Amino acid sequence: MKDQYAVIGNPIEHSKSPWIHAKFAAQTGEPIEYGRILGPLGGFLDEAKRFRDAGGRGMNVTVPFKLDAHAFADSLSPRAAAAGAVNTLSFGPDGVRGDNTDGVGLVRDIEVNLGVSLKGARILLLGAGGAARGVVLPIFDRAPAALTIVNRTAAKALVLVDQFAENASQSNVRFSGGGADAAEAGQYDVVINATAGSLDAALPDCDDSAFGPGTLAYDMMYGPKPTVFIQHAQKLGARAADGLGMLVEQAAESFFIWRGVRPDGGAVLRELRGALAQH
Ligand code: ATR
Repeated sequence: MKDQYAVIGNPIEHSKSPWIHAKFAAQTGEPIEYGRILGPLGGFLDEAKRFRDAGGRGMNVTVPFKLDAHAFADSLSPRAAAAGAVNTLSFGPDGVRGDNTDGVGLVRDIEVNLGVSLKGARILLLGAGGAARGVVLPIFDRAPAALTIVNRTAAKALVLVDQFAENASQSNVRFSGGGADAAEAGQYDVVINATAGSLDAALPDCDDSAFGPGTLAYDMMYGPKPTVFIQHAQKLGARAADGLGMLVEQAAESFFIWRGVRPDGGAVLRELRGALAQH
């Protein structure tokens, strides 16, 4: 019998994770099976325990259960502790280990798949919710020159600035944040949309002068059509990317945690884009 993994979320029907992990398994020859579980709202713990007790080796966790998974874990990786959320659970002899691969997935997609180095870069992060919190430390790890967090509710950006101030100074990163007026003057090298705005076609507040021909505008969301953020950035001359590569790369990092083998995310991303283009 193959080792069992699954993604749990609600809704879960359209999750691409089973497809992605099946590709990784084929690519690496790892003997795994990866399914999907619809977790009832308020019923995460029972479902996760049931899967583990039946011999499951690990789970990916998606909306709305990442905080429940954080609470379920007996131990946390530093990046999961900083994010306050868990998207990868491993079930082993030492109990339930929680990790968060979203931030690393974002960074890998930007640097490896899109070919934009974050070292010395000026980065603008839009949003100060769970998605933004999860990417701050992995961004610092790439030694950018500056990270600015801009959020509709300025106070929430300031909470993150406070939380990560010490990490920023250790990494030598100029780190600040607030409302829309907190952005530094001039073009940013990378602008990341970590707001939930794309879900309801809302454009997060941000000065147009942050975007230019030298900017990579990255939306963590993805969909069949370019988001309003992507369209806006392109109109201002920026290069733009959606979050499909982040999805594949966070999965690749989870696979690596579980199996000790790193799959080729770029190849699977190209295949996934090709498959989606046909629909
Ligand atoms: P997630 O886990 O996806 O980050 P969250 O923690 O609820 O979800 O955070 C949502 C983020 O998107 C917040 O930064 C939110 O801004 P506020 O803190 O001001 O609420 C941001 N957001 C949601 N809808 C938005 C919109 N229409 N315009 C701008 N920002 C928006």
